[in-house]
Amino acid sequence: MSQTSVKSDKEKVFIFDTTLRDGEQSPGATMNMQEKFRLAQQLVKLQVDVIEAGFPIASAGDFDCVKNIADHIKGAQIAGLARANKKDIDAAWEALKKGENPRIHTFLATSDIHLKHKLKMSREQVLELAVASVKHAAGYTPNVEFSAEDASRSDLDFVCRVFEAVIDAGATTLNFPDTTGYALPDEFAGQIRYLMENIPNIDKAILSVHCHNDLGLAVANSLAAINAGVRQVESTINGIGERAGNTAMEELVMALRTRGDRVSVYTDIATEHIHASSRMVSSITGIPVQPNKAIVGANAFAHESGIHQDGVLKERTTYEIMDPCDIGLTKGNLVLGKHSGRHALKDRLKALGYGNLTDDEVNSVFHRFKELADVKKEMFDEDLEAILLDEVVRIPETYQLLSLGAMSGNKTMPTSAVQLLVEGKEVQDAEIGVGPIDSAFRTIAKLTGTTSKLLYFAVSSITGGTDAQGEVMVRVEDEGKIVVGQGADPDIITAAAKAYLKALNRLDYLKKETKKNS
Ligand code: KIV
Ligand code: ZN
Repeated sequence: MSQTSVKSDKEKVFIFDTTLRDGEQSPGATMNMQEKFRLAQQLVKLQVDVIEAGFPIASAGDFDCVKNIADHIKGAQIAGLARANKKDIDAAWEALKKGENPRIHTFLATSDIHLKHKLKMSREQVLELAVASVKHAAGYTPNVEFSAEDASRSDLDFVCRVFEAVIDAGATTLNFPDTTGYALPDEFAGQIRYLMENIPNIDKAILSVHCHNDLGLAVANSLAAINAGVRQVESTINGIGERAGNTAMEELVMALRTRGDRVSVYTDIATEHIHASSRMVSSITGIPVQPNKAIVGANAFAHESGIHQDGVLKERTTYEIMDPCDIGLTKGNLVLGKHSGRHALKDRLKALGYGNLTDDEVNSVFHRFKELADVKKEMFDEDLEAILLDEVVRIPETYQLLSLGAMSGNKTMPTSAVQLLVEGKEVQDAEIGVGPIDSAFRTIAKLTGTTSKLLYFAVSSITGGTDAQGEVMVRVEDEGKIVVGQGADPDIITAAAKAYLKALNRLDYLKKETKKNS
């Protein structure tokens, strides 16, 4: 059943996207201003209703990112997070105020565990502070959301009192988070029904949920809450977020769409942009999507068994409950060859969500594309994304790779010779290691004078065949900061060196930002 055909007798569920705020709280998922802006543009294409752009008081960098998005992005409400105090709310408003439809999102915990151990406040004090904060925010804008942090582990009668009071104080959205991912679906739905029945002025606000995935139940809990009456869900692309993450937007939206026969709601999400959005989030954050992940995993529409393949060839719906085209997955996404021109490349970049590149950026992508097309016969979307990542979505490059030569074999001492630009100065050296990648990393660490710890290393091939580009993801730690880096190249050692250097550049950028803000 198509979503549009049944819209008229269904109610809308608003999608509040927090990829740029809670999603960024995934370990290692720090995004810079340019990356956040690009993602915000993609979220508008997806037609999310609200973009939570960040937490303005958290740092000068966060403030600037929220302001940049609020000032320039049209077509979605832009929210900024603020704890329940004047200073946070003032900072949020300062960042948001030029926006088309800004929302202040203020939060305060309501569970006894948080009151006793974290806030050291009584319930009466919390109630008073929540009301005062919402009134302060409502003095700036009528679009105010209040979240009762750890709501699912709170005394429900207390949450009802707080919600009733903050609606009177001017809150128009009330969020009931399962902050610790503790709730079970039937229990969570019961809590929502209780709120609906026991808050006398609930009809003056939209009830929302925000679920974490600690027990793998974030999507199930969000669905249960929708069926119990909530009309806003907070979610992230690929389900990234604090700890085990948040409700995965693509899973929730496709469940509502695919099971339109069982649910009485719709969303405005333009599902054909889901695949590109998922890829963009993964490439910007460096957090890979697990192959068996629902909707956007590499295997989500792959049929391995002969019986299944035969069935799908005869009639797609025998084993497919969704049409891959509905999430923007085109079969055999062969895009360009070595004879393709700049215009074809620009068209494909636009389809991938990179329609606003400057002429210089298109030129550098085109240059790299031609170089790679000479080596690879066929170019896929994933190859282009890998180039984009290197050429466009970039952070300042303190360290740049000039050249790398590696020697290895079963009877050779693995050795790598590396030439780098470090802050514009050419340096070179060579080191031995247990393998060619180890020797390359040792040489790079020596040349950059860095002592980071490698936490994770994964290598995969971006597309098929022996001429495929190899993609390397690394996770690196230094002084308590964890970052990721990714690199792609037909030569796997070069891909690894690029990934490592990207991570070191991110660490360097973070260190400089921290110093600037302290
Ligand atoms: O998980 C949570 O409770 C949050 C709130 C700030 C909404 O992220
Ligand atoms: Zn959260």
